[in-house]
Amino acid sequence: MDIFEKVVNNMGPLGQYADYGWGYFYFPKLEGEISNRMLFRGKPVLVWSLNNYLGLANHPEVREADARAAEEYGMAYPMGARMMSGQTAYHEQLERELAAFEKKEAAYLLNYGYMGMVSIIDSLIDRHDVVVYDSDAHACILDGLRMHMGKRFVYPHNNMEKLETSLKRAQKLVDQTGGGILVITEGVYGMAGDLGNLPGILQFKDKYGFRLLVDDAHGFGTMGTTGAGTSEEQKVMDGVDVYFGTFAKAMAGIGGFVATDKPIVKALAFNMRSQIFAKSLPMPMVIGALKRLELLRNKPELKENLWTIVRALQSGLREKGFNLGRTQSPVTPVFLQGGLGEAAQIVVDLRENYGIFCSMVIYPVVPKGVIMLRLIPTAVHTLEDVKYTIDSFSNVREKLDAGKYSDGTFPTVADKY
Ligand SMILES: Cc1ncc(COP(=O)(O)O)c(C=O)c1O
Repeated sequence: MDIFEKVVNNMGPLGQYADYGWGYFYFPKLEGEISNRMLFRGKPVLVWSLNNYLGLANHPEVREADARAAEEYGMAYPMGARMMSGQTAYHEQLERELAAFEKKEAAYLLNYGYMGMVSIIDSLIDRHDVVVYDSDAHACILDGLRMHMGKRFVYPHNNMEKLETSLKRAQKLVDQTGGGILVITEGVYGMAGDLGNLPGILQFKDKYGFRLLVDDAHGFGTMGTTGAGTSEEQKVMDGVDVYFGTFAKAMAGIGGFVATDKPIVKALAFNMRSQIFAKSLPMPMVIGALKRLELLRNKPELKENLWTIVRALQSGLREKGFNLGRTQSPVTPVFLQGGLGEAAQIVVDLRENYGIFCSMVIYPVVPKGVIMLRLIPTAVHTLEDVKYTIDSFSNVREKLDAGKYSDGTFPTVADKY
């Protein structure tokens, strides 16, 4: 079998729809300033699909800091990986500030959150260790685990009873191998918006002596009194051994960080292959992140604005009888009943006739017959945006109930690749 032929014949779970959705459901282009209103295929839309939680993407101070750093240093500096020639005082300063913010001894930057998480897992554990992780874990956690040569146990999402069963099994194994146990959860689960049950997990810590790694990509900057994340929200910052955050969401940047004990940061810096063998974050990213972190810490009104929109949107939708599942964070899933064709038609109707751009999530992420429309509120949305969206969603649901989208045909709005 020719490799090319095989790849083309099996495009994978997402790629199988490539010809129905190019440029529309997949790889759509949102143009204009990053904001609540942008252009999609030349038409203005109200955007609910960007993780620009605090509205920092276009904050004037952020834009100025990014531009000045680019002007002063260009995009190339520093050249090389951190360990070889890519270290700067700004990288170190950002790490100190992130560590202090997360109340950890030290932090280390990651040139992409995803790659960083893969290498954190790879560096922390070896074949003698056992990993216990939540079934809804993000792809970067699963990819980190793909490299793990030892055992792993998955527990059903946030099921503390099953977690303990897995811990018991893990304990038996490490008693034989002499290894340790690593538990991995997310802080905010980015699809459904619910929180990892950190206190629930930590109740077992003394008994099983594990270390806890938390991926708080969506919680960093949005949760907790100061925005330090889900562990702050749940008042268990001390219990989290390794805290992971990304700059790609509330910070509206790129890159990420890991914060933990100082000796562990040292060990990670010498072992995370995706960081050792890849280029350091360019200066505008680092200086830009310092500015974003400053605003995140010093302008609580950004988080308050975000939560004003979150509360209005979520309570408004719930009052109209929409099912938002178990969200406890800004992530706002709206669950409807219907097949793939109906889901696609709803998205087209929302975009074309209501000017609302949101993402749709389908099987296998949600069960067959369920449509999930996912809204991401931000600090730059307005209460008018919220009202308009709730009214439009009510309208669309009426049409769905009346069978308006039920012919099941897939809309042909999209281009082919
Ligand atoms: C839970 C979670 N972890 C990790 C990542 C990866 O972060 P980054 O975009 O910085 O690579 C994401 C981003 O989608 C995420 O949602």
